[in-house]
Amino acid sequence: MFRKKDLLGLKDMTAEDITDILDRTVSMKEAFVGGRQLDRLSGKCVATLFYENSTRTRNSFETAARVLGARTMSISVATSSVQKGESLIDTGKTLDALRTDAIVIRHSMAGAPDLLAANVRASVINAGDGMNEHPTQSLLDLFTMREKFGTIKGLKVVLVGDVKHSRVARSNIWALSKLGAEAVVVAPYTLLPRGVEELGCEVSTDIEEAMIGANVVMGLRIQRERQKAGLFPSLAEYNAEFGITADRLYGICENALVMHPGPVNRGVELSGDVADSPNSAINEQVTNGVAVRMAVMDMLIGGR
Ligand code: CP
Repeated sequence: MFRKKDLLGLKDMTAEDITDILDRTVSMKEAFVGGRQLDRLSGKCVATLFYENSTRTRNSFETAARVLGARTMSISVATSSVQKGESLIDTGKTLDALRTDAIVIRHSMAGAPDLLAANVRASVINAGDGMNEHPTQSLLDLFTMREKFGTIKGLKVVLVGDVKHSRVARSNIWALSKLGAEAVVVAPYTLLPRGVEELGCEVSTDIEEAMIGANVVMGLRIQRERQKAGLFPSLAEYNAEFGITADRLYGICENALVMHPGPVNRGVELSGDVADSPNSAINEQVTNGVAVRMAVMDMLIGGR
């Protein structure tokens, strides 16, 4: 069983640890979708500390904490003392002094959650650090795949889009290879990081070839906020070459599960009809995100 203080990434987790979290997510999902309130984190406090924007992850953690009976604190960096120059470590120590049991952090700097974890008593959960990792997104993706196919082992998972800037891709490549799936990344050369195959995936620049035999096709958001100009000619041309369209989906792998971590740029990574199709698990991913975060927080602070 996973017994560490923090959840910082999947790179250093074992397949057994990942599977343990997925197993615990099953009963959490039953409670959440059944509208049951649990008291496993009664008396605990969970703080969300987001230095970057979020809709899904932040609300998902806060919902998960409340379903488990915890008190929540939402620190809005835009209106906090961070704007007066307070450091990340001092902000963390302030949260410790407020008797916070877990800090959920999103930061533009890779490694910021590790720095915080080394300096606070509270458990730290990485909700996305720069271009490094987004571990709970990957866990919810894995849970969604396992619900659909019964297993992760042996699946062919094609990840299409901005691989270079994607923390979701990195966490998923590490986790999928640990669990025995075949991960294939597809992007223009300019959106493929150098040496990406060393993470444990195959690499392609041909979406139609890569989709042959795919069980899962996952779009990755084009992260214009992290890109320098000129990595591809235009969004329309990106979509023509790399978009997950109905023609490609139904012509090549009609039974594949379509996933996307969100937010989706409709008409860029995915066409709207694919996003809304019966193949799409995008909304189920969001529901599963609450359940997987319930399991993670219960494991980290439920017994403390
Ligand atoms: N998938 C994801 O991280 O979404 P948000 O940016 O809305 O949290």
